[in-house]
Amino acid sequence: MIRVPGDKSITHRALILSAVATGRSRLRGLLSGEDCQSTASALRALGAGIPELPDDGSEIVVDGVGLAGLQTPASVLDCGNSGTTVRLLLGLLSGIRLEALLTGDKSLRARPMRRVTGPLGELGASFWESGAPDRLPVRVRGRKLRSARYRSPVASAQVKSALLLAGLTGGAEVTVVEPTRSRDHTERMLRRMGAAVREAVTKEGWEVSLGPPPVELEPLDLRVPGDFSSAAFLVAFALLGGVRTALKIPNVGLNPTRTGLLDVLESMGARIEVESLREADDPRGESAGDLVVSPSELRGTSVSGHQIPLLIDEVPVLAAVAARADGVTEIRDAEELRYKESDRIRALAENLAGIGVQATELPDGLRIVGGEGALGGEVHARHDHRIAMAFGVLGALRGNRISLDDRAVTDVSFPGFWGLLSDLRHGSGAVTDR
Ligand code: S3P
Repeated sequence: MIRVPGDKSITHRALILSAVATGRSRLRGLLSGEDCQSTASALRALGAGIPELPDDGSEIVVDGVGLAGLQTPASVLDCGNSGTTVRLLLGLLSGIRLEALLTGDKSLRARPMRRVTGPLGELGASFWESGAPDRLPVRVRGRKLRSARYRSPVASAQVKSALLLAGLTGGAEVTVVEPTRSRDHTERMLRRMGAAVREAVTKEGWEVSLGPPPVELEPLDLRVPGDFSSAAFLVAFALLGGVRTALKIPNVGLNPTRTGLLDVLESMGARIEVESLREADDPRGESAGDLVVSPSELRGTSVSGHQIPLLIDEVPVLAAVAARADGVTEIRDAEELRYKESDRIRALAENLAGIGVQATELPDGLRIVGGEGALGGEVHARHDHRIAMAFGVLGALRGNRISLDDRAVTDVSFPGFWGLLSDLRHGSGAVTDR
């Protein structure tokens, strides 16, 4: 049986929210990858009792310190490579009476921070940039916040979540309007912990409101499902003929704000079935199910508009699939990809060209001409886990010869990726064809 590690987005939120809950949370299936270790160690430095994150998904217990219980840390909070860690913490901490300096690795220090500090400022939060404008390191001094309505120019779950968390700790009612809906894990988890979160479609877009904030959060009893974004790489490998018959991946998170890739792959001709679906009709829950993927003849497609936020982290793997599909694939309205762990539009276009794929960089996306010929060349991961894994999938397909400069970067979100891929490739080990 092949299993993917726990969902990264849900793990970050479970750690953060259980740390500020009142009472004992029980968390299972957490991701122990480096990004989540960054969240766990920052929370420990702030005085939360977060145990070591186990590699096998076994249960941890977190005794929450309450919404006002985190303390000024003794040293700088290093968020490593993790944008979600730094952006969610900037929100959470801006409403707590403490002071903290947040920074990250070279890649994170190159990413924009005003997209969260700007709107948080409208709630009355205070920040100081101690390096370049719009970049880390950023110091936050938390305080009581005022209620506000913020209309975001981008559909970003990190921006939305930062604002909701600030409202939660800063005692403010917050409304966020995004142009189209982004992932909603924070909303679901907050409801599960007793907070009132409402969602509605309005003329302006997708509107999410928190309020009035609760005085305390109930603890969590949670099993985190497997990460769809990690499963996506193995799905691609199976579709492209990396397995002989079919591959089954059990217990994958299937939150509809995350699974846009499934619809796009189906429109390309992919044979993917969902079994044992546990549907989250409950707006406080997360749906999950087993994916069964069969090698498929694929054709090119077009992806744009509201589809993009629903597959934002899957564009690298979609680009890899497009390189092997029949015909042209065009991805538009995806300029946000330029602000991820690397400029993913450029990283994909240049690396695809480097292995012999006809790929064009567009201002807001990519145009990829698929084909069957063997691919070969050097790929530069640019310190980006999803770039490394997307090309890892292409490199593992028979006939291709692709070398990658940095394999270790995948530990950020998918520890054990290379071992699983190699087991799959050889049809052995922990992984079996169905
Ligand atoms: C994430 C939100 C997305 C995504 C990132 C994880 C989250 O970023 O790309 O990998 O857990 O909230 P944006 O909110 O900036 O789109």
